[in-house]
Parts: sequence; structure tokens; C-alpha cells
Amino acid sequence: MKNKISAIITAAGKGERMNPPIKKQFMPLAGKPIIVHTVEKFLKAEIFDKVIITISSEDRKLAEKILFSEYNLPKKKFIIVDGGVTRQQSVFNALKMCPEATDYVVIHDGVRPLVKVKEIQEIVKLTEEKRAVTLGIPAKNTIKRIKQNRVISTLDRKQLWEIFTPQAFYYDLIYKAHKNAESKKLKVNDDAELVEILGEDVFVLQGSPQNIKITDKFDLKIAEAILRNN
Ligand code: CTP
Ligand code: MG
Repeated sequence: MKNKISAIITAAGKGERMNPPIKKQFMPLAGKPIIVHTVEKFLKAEIFDKVIITISSEDRKLAEKILFSEYNLPKKKFIIVDGGVTRQQSVFNALKMCPEATDYVVIHDGVRPLVKVKEIQEIVKLTEEKRAVTLGIPAKNTIKRIKQNRVISTLDRKQLWEIFTPQAFYYDLIYKAHKNAESKKLKVNDDAELVEILGEDVFVLQGSPQNIKITDKFDLKIAEAILRNN
């Protein structure tokens, strides 16, 4: 039987570090809203039953207008879910809205529009075997632990990776991980950590460094430059 796979794309943040007149997920990148770039990659992967997008309730109308009216994306493929106060809560809301009998779920930041279709397909394939997989790249810079502008220690770069999304999981595993976090009031930054907390292995797949998270205005410039050269 064919596996049932859902995508969760998070786009319910406030974009405080960008601080533009409009939230960064709706800002234009090479003339097209960032969220549209991202969502189109998931549609092109052609492996998802549903694409679930977390949107802040005040932006639901705007998101629907952009996705379904302006860009004519197939409405029946999507579920738009109200975001929570934190990204973690947004993802948990979306997990609860996945279709029944979902086997795998791929979770991705709406503001990583430069993910490659091939990366999305590869991470899903690997998840069948590994159960929990995240994309990442080996750290390029030296990373030190700092307190009040003073170096506390230097970490061994050979052991350090920067972690990206997508992150993909067996649905039951990531649901259990979020449920556990809710009951213990744990707050983390990425979904993989919730699986780590359960004591389960998380596999890291090396991705492309172009898959940046658009966090501030500098990232937007980099993303524009990457798209111009693609
Ligand atoms: N996100 C979400 N729900 C939240 C917070 C974040 O769905 N409550 C989404 C964001 O929209 C973004 C992704 O998670 O696509 C990664 O978060 P981040 O880059 O931190 O975006 P923001 O939270 O919007 O930005 P900032 O932290 O600067 O306010
Ligand atoms: Mg944030």
C-alpha cells in the first residue's frame, strides 16, 4: 500500500528580527512571496497527500488570497491551521490536523524557500528506514560558548553541524514526542530535539548550504543573489 505523507510548513511567526512592514513569509523574493516559493517546492515533490500550513489567524485571509487567488495553487491539497504562540505549538497544532493514517510527516520552515525538491524527496526516502531525519550541514565557522562577551569554551568544530529543515519523521513518533513535550512543558527550537528527548536516534542528512532560513534583511539579500545565479 502507498504511504501517506503530509507536509507541515510553518508560517505563523511574527518575523520580529526582520521587522519589515509585512511579515517576512509574505515578503517578495525575486518578485514572489517567500511562502509561495516554499510551498511550490513541496508541490513539485509530488509525494504529499496534504500540505498543512500554520498561519496566524489574523493572516488567514491574506494567506488564502496569495496562495489560492493570486498564485492559483490547488486549494484541495492544503489545510491551513491556526499557529500557536511558539513554533513548537504551531507544529503541534498542525500534527493534530494531519489526515488519519498518515505514515510520515515532513516539517519545514515557511521561510526556507531555497530548499531543493530533491532534498525533500531524499529525506522522505531515508525516513522510511531511519524514522527521524533532519537536514543539516557541517559547521564552517569556529563556534565558542560565550557569556557576557567572554569566551567560556571552544567547541570541537569537527563534531558540530548546523541544523536545517526539512525534518522528517514517522508520524506516530513525532506526535508522541510533541505530546511528551506538552505534558512536561518542554520548550525547544526544533522538532528533532523532541525526538532526542525520547531517547530515539535522529539521523542527519547533509543538505545544500543554500537552504538558508530567512531571518533578517541580510538573508533576504543572500537569497536574492542565490536565485539570480541559479
Ligand atoms: N513560526 C510559526 N509559529 C510561530 C513562530 C514561528 O509557524 N509561533 C514559523 C515562522 O513563520 C517561520 C518558522 O516558524 O517560518 C521559523 O521561525 P523564525 O525564523 O523564528 O520566524 P519568526 O518567528 O517569524 O521570526 P522571529 O523569531 O524573528 O520573530
Ligand atoms: Mg521565531
